Amino acid sequence: MTKKLFVKTYGCQMNVYDSARMADVLAPLGYAMTDGPEDADMVILNTCHIREKAAEKTFSELGRWRAHKAERGGRMIIAVAGCVAQAEGEEILRRAPFVDIVLGPQTYHRLPEMVAQATRAAQKNGFGGAVLDTEFPLEPKFDHLPEARADGGSAFLSVQEGCDKFCTFCVVPYTRGAEYSRPAAAILDEARKLVAQGVVEISLLGQNVNAWHGEGGHGFGALIRDLAGIDGLERIRYTTSHPRDMEDDLIQVHAEVDKLMPFLHLPVQSGSDRILDAMNRKHDRVFYLKLVERLKAARPDLALSSDFIVGFPGETDADFADTMALVREVGFVNTYSFKYSARPGTPAAAMPNQVPEPVKEARLAELQALLWEQTRQFNEASVGRVMKVLLDRPGRRPGQLVGRSPYMQAVHVDNAGSLLHQVAEVRVLEVHPNSLKAELVTPERMRA
Ligand code: 5AD
Ligand code: SF4
Repeated sequence: MTKKLFVKTYGCQMNVYDSARMADVLAPLGYAMTDGPEDADMVILNTCHIREKAAEKTFSELGRWRAHKAERGGRMIIAVAGCVAQAEGEEILRRAPFVDIVLGPQTYHRLPEMVAQATRAAQKNGFGGAVLDTEFPLEPKFDHLPEARADGGSAFLSVQEGCDKFCTFCVVPYTRGAEYSRPAAAILDEARKLVAQGVVEISLLGQNVNAWHGEGGHGFGALIRDLAGIDGLERIRYTTSHPRDMEDDLIQVHAEVDKLMPFLHLPVQSGSDRILDAMNRKHDRVFYLKLVERLKAARPDLALSSDFIVGFPGETDADFADTMALVREVGFVNTYSFKYSARPGTPAAAMPNQVPEPVKEARLAELQALLWEQTRQFNEASVGRVMKVLLDRPGRRPGQLVGRSPYMQAVHVDNAGSLLHQVAEVRVLEVHPNSLKAELVTPERMRA
């Protein structure tokens, strides 16, 4: 008998991947996805702890789910997963006793056991007897997961987890644990299986993805070369990278491997050496600028995206001016920027000279205006260009498909109906605020 599963995901692409894998783990138990929590037999909230208000968001969502559970006479398993669960598991069970399962990002392969345990406890007590599993188990969860199921032409593939960098603002080393690289053979196997299901684009994921290392000194560049050898795989991406782990060979791969898309998310966080040092980023401004130069020499059409934090403790107007200058010098596309948010337990949270909220807001607005303008100019420059687009979902109009350019721009293409989940060559006609409009270079009727 099928049961209904609803999963709500906050945060990064790792969480999106984890949510899909949790659904895969639960499928053999008869759980199939549904669109809302109201009539679900099981609901999972996959949480993110990286910035502001993570816990509050979690509890207010759970409050709504409590009402749905009551409407169903208690017949609903509520699970909280992800980084808030990892960091505040006990607190969740104390404040939300109607939650049945709390699990960290490293234990979701054990979900079937947890569901069985929670169900037994509920039968015995009439309500949830909570299960908490936020360990970092020794058995790697990837060895215990069922095969990934493809959903369209583009797929995520998690190759690395955790982080040993300990940037002073960041919770990831605490919530996701130490750096762990999946073995190359398992990654290649998963990639081949995805391609056999029609996947043409794979995005390799990891908190610190380019720190990936295989057995026998195999580096991340070598892994990308191996993946590029898979017939039928047309596009490779990877995210998120640390500047310190951009090794020479990986830069060389950008020059050699056509399947590797010319778009790289390479967070710099700040343009000020003083702040980079206080952040424990392990690189300075010049290191980053030289790295960009080398990457662009390897792949001249490369575009860069980044993450920035404004208002890190002690950031002065001069430090912020250094950030603005670095943005002008490099030029970024589709970049993320955030106000610094003190995360409990991280070194920066206890630093003196926390920056007042209005100052953070003003700096963020100024930075974002510049970043938006750079993205706008980049999009504007696409008009008239011919590019390959992976058409991965239907558009609003009949026959229209929406896809992604090599640079992750959303592209709307009319009269493309039969090309769903395929890569097609298009010419860009117009720029809209958040997307491009394009036409097929080879009209569909001529293809047959
Ligand atoms: N405050 C603000 N932004 C943060 N990030 C991580 N931790 C914090 C924090 N405490 C941002 C960084 C990182 C991105 C995923 O989130 O820019 O690269
Ligand atoms: Fe966090 Fe820094 Fe590790 Fe990125 S590199 S996950 S920002 S500690």
